[in-house]
Amino acid sequence: MTSNGIGIPAPLGLLAELTHRCPLGCPYCSNPIALDNRSGELDSATWARVFREAAGLGVLQVHLSGGEPAARRDLPEIVEAARAAGLYSNLITSAVGLTPQTLSVLADRGLDHVQISIQDSEQASADHIAGYKGASARKRALAAEVVKFGLPLTVNMVVHRANIARVEPMVDLALALGASRIEVAHVQYYGWALENRAALMPTREQVEAAVGQVERLRKIHQGRIVIDAVVPDYYARFPKPCVGGWGRRSLNVTPAGKVLPCHAAEVIPGLEFWNVREHSLAEIWRTSPAFNAFRGDDWMQEPCKSCALKEKDFGGCRCQAFLLAGDACAADPVCHLSPHHALLAPLAAQGADVPYNYRHL
Ligand code: FES
Repeated sequence: MTSNGIGIPAPLGLLAELTHRCPLGCPYCSNPIALDNRSGELDSATWARVFREAAGLGVLQVHLSGGEPAARRDLPEIVEAARAAGLYSNLITSAVGLTPQTLSVLADRGLDHVQISIQDSEQASADHIAGYKGASARKRALAAEVVKFGLPLTVNMVVHRANIARVEPMVDLALALGASRIEVAHVQYYGWALENRAALMPTREQVEAAVGQVERLRKIHQGRIVIDAVVPDYYARFPKPCVGGWGRRSLNVTPAGKVLPCHAAEVIPGLEFWNVREHSLAEIWRTSPAFNAFRGDDWMQEPCKSCALKEKDFGGCRCQAFLLAGDACAADPVCHLSPHHALLAPLAAQGADVPYNYRHL
């Protein structure tokens, strides 16, 4: 990892949440429960400044996300600003509300990459999960346009109780759509997904069957598919190195300009987040209280503090430690060495076929 000269690593990626508006209602949306309104969104000139500052800080990639970024009329100007700043731009889109005409304009303005999520290989199930009739057909149609324009396409699949049995057909669908990269990962239980935890949580038998599918797929499609984790945290024994370590690799700017070390950071009480309207991105990265809260290991407790893996997993996820153990400095309860690990099995056992509480603005 590169250093910016003052001992704090340089970030590599910027997640730009351009808006929280979205036509879909996915019950695992990573947006917060309290969504930002359109009236508070940063304008394109401010985003252009943020992109220049990000590039100055060492950021290489900007992920244009939301909500649905195409809900913004000025998306072409925003894409152009990312290109002007020298950033590699990745549009993370629901594909609903993005027309082939707009896609063509974005390609002309310098868009580098498109990422589309698919909810399931079965269309009726996919539409039900997205809370939008016809979403699946529109995603398939837009994926074809992306490939036609010669833009690299990543297909992203979020796996949970309703679709975990179909990892293989979902991968087959992504390949048929022309994906050059496929990402498969289990729902992360924060925000709307935490609200819907019971409805999304698979059974242990479902997880074991999915692990078998994934092993086969990894062999067949070596190097072409990124399968992060199909095992939900609640069934795991080791925690994930969440966001590559707090304040080490990435920044997340909300539609209203607040800068977060991770998308869920606002759940941790007492953290002070700075806004790009008042501070430069470099100031925020280097000196803001929220970014410095969990850097290094001064904040760590046992068993993390003396653990040989602390440089690899950074004690797991700070947000999950707070949400499950009530203490953001505790070891992530996912770790089998955590004194709170026993909390997880009963929560996983609450999985049930209950209706979704769809995300809504
Ligand atoms: Fe916030 Fe993991 S989601 S640290």
